[in-house]
Amino acid sequence: MPGHGGVAAGRLTVNEKTADRADPEPFRVLVVDDEKLFARSLARELERRGLAADTAFTAAEALEKSATGAYPVVLLDHKLPDDDGIRLVPHFLARRPGCVVIVMTAYQTIASAVQAIRQGAEDYIVKEASTAPIVERVLEVMRRDQLRAEIGDLSEHKRMGLLGRSPGIVEVIRLLDQVAASPETTVLLVGESGVGKEVAAQYLHRASTASGAPLVTVDCVALPANLVESLLFGHEKGAFTGADRATDGFFHEAGRGTILFDEIGDMDPALQGKLLRVIESREFHRLGSSRVQPVGARIVAATNRDLAQQVRQGTFRFDLFERLSVFPIRIPPLRERGEDVLLLAEHFLRFFSDRLGKRIEAPGPDVAEILLAHDYSGNVRELKNAVERAVILCPGGKLAPEHLPERIVRQARTSAAGAGSDAPRVDFVPGVDTLDSLERRMIQEALQRANGVKTEAARLLGISRFQLLRRLDKFGMKSDDDRDS
Ligand SMILES: Nc1ncnc2c1ncn2[C@@H]1O[C@H](COP(=O)(O)OP(=O)(O)OP(=O)(O)O)[C@@H](O)[C@H]1O
Ligand SMILES: [Mg+2]
Repeated sequence: MPGHGGVAAGRLTVNEKTADRADPEPFRVLVVDDEKLFARSLARELERRGLAADTAFTAAEALEKSATGAYPVVLLDHKLPDDDGIRLVPHFLARRPGCVVIVMTAYQTIASAVQAIRQGAEDYIVKEASTAPIVERVLEVMRRDQLRAEIGDLSEHKRMGLLGRSPGIVEVIRLLDQVAASPETTVLLVGESGVGKEVAAQYLHRASTASGAPLVTVDCVALPANLVESLLFGHEKGAFTGADRATDGFFHEAGRGTILFDEIGDMDPALQGKLLRVIESREFHRLGSSRVQPVGARIVAATNRDLAQQVRQGTFRFDLFERLSVFPIRIPPLRERGEDVLLLAEHFLRFFSDRLGKRIEAPGPDVAEILLAHDYSGNVRELKNAVERAVILCPGGKLAPEHLPERIVRQARTSAAGAGSDAPRVDFVPGVDTLDSLERRMIQEALQRANGVKTEAARLLGISRFQLLRRLDKFGMKSDDDRDS
C-alpha cells in the first residue's frame, strides 16, 4: 500500500531472552555494624522472626562474608572502623544484583542519605534504641521479595524482556497484569524516553492476547497527514484519487491483538478527534464505505510528553486525554530504579556477548560502582547502548571501566569526588538548624579544641580574635573561663 514508508507497523517479535528465575535460597540477612551489642541483638531479633541472620563487625569481614554467602538483604552501618559503609554498597550489589542494602546510621543527614541511595542502597534509616523499625523494614523487603518471586514464576514465559526487580517495575508489572484481564480498556504508558514503554506494551500484548495475535505499532510522529485515515482505517476502491484498489488499515491488521499508538503526544489534533471516536464506539469504517467494523484490538498509547501540559497549551485534546487517562501506567526512570541497573547490565552483557560469541564475566565492583553512579538521562536504552559498546571493546574476560563510555565514567568520578572527600560532613536538619546555630556549633567546637584559648580558636576558624569576640558577644556566649583575655 502506498505511503507506508516511515510508519512503523509490524508484528511482534521475540528478540530478548526471558527473565531469570528468582532463586529459591532461604532468606538471609547480613548485619554489618561495629557496635557488636547492637548487631547481635538485631540478628537475634531477625532470627526470632524466622530469618537467617549473620553478623560482621568490620567492612573487611562484611565483604568476606558476602563473598561466600549471598544475602538478599544487607543492613549496613554508615560508619565502620575500616571504611565508610556507603562506599560498600556497590560491592554488595555487584555480588548479588537485586540485593537490598539498607544503610543504618546514628543520625540522619540529607546529603549522606542521598549519597547512599545514589550508590544503590534501598533505604537509609536512623538507628534507635529499639531494633523493631529495622526488623519491620526487613520483613517488608522479604514479603516484597516473595511477591517478586511469584511474579517471576507466574510470567516467566511472557515477561518479554521486561526485566527488573525494583519496587517501581514490580508495580508496573502488577498493573499490566491487572489490566491484561480487560482487553477493551485503553492503556496509556507514560515515561521518559528509553524507560521501556514499548517493552511494557509488548508485555501487555503477550499477557492479554492469544499467542500469534498481531501487535501493530503506529508511530504518530511519522504519520503522513494526507494518508493517515486510510492508513488507520483502510479504504475502498475509488475512495480518493489514486485509490485503485481496496486496502485494509492498521485497525483491521491488528485483529484481536494490540494496536499501539507510539508518541501519541505528537498526533495531529484533527486525528485525535477521530481516534477518540473510535476508542469510544470501538468501531471504525473504511474510507469510502459505510459498513462499520468492530475494533477487536486493545488500544495502547505511549508518550514521553506531559499530556496534561499539552492540554493546557492547547496541542492535545482534553477529551482524548481524559479518555486515555482511564488506565495510565507510569514507568519510572532508571535512576529511580537503582536496583535494576546491575540486573539489566548483566542481562545486556550476556545478551551481547552471546551474540558476539565472547566470554565476558559479570561486572566487578569497579564497573558496578560506575554504572550505579550514573543518572541515565537516556534510561534503559542508554544503559543497553553502553553495555553493547563495552562488549564490543572488551576482548573477553573482565569488563573494565575503560570499556564504558567516557561520559558515564566521568559522571561517576565527579559524584565520587563530591561525596567521598575526607572533609568532615556538615550535618544539619533543614528547617531546624540555621546558619546561626551552625556558626554557634562551630565556635563551640573550636573553643573546645583550643582548650578555651580564644586566639587559638580564632585561628582554627580562620577569623581574627576580635571577630571571634564579636561573635561570642552576638551569640551571648561570653564565657568566664577566659584563658587568654
Ligand atoms: N525492563 C526492561 N528490561 C529489558 N530491556 C529493557 C527494559 N526496558 C527497556 N529495555 C530496552 O531498552 C530499550 C528502550 O526501551 P523502549 O524502546 O521500550 O523505550 P521507550 O520508553 O519506548 O523509549 P522512547 O520514548 O524513546 O520510545 C529497548 O532496547 C528495550 O529492549
Ligand atoms: Mg518507544
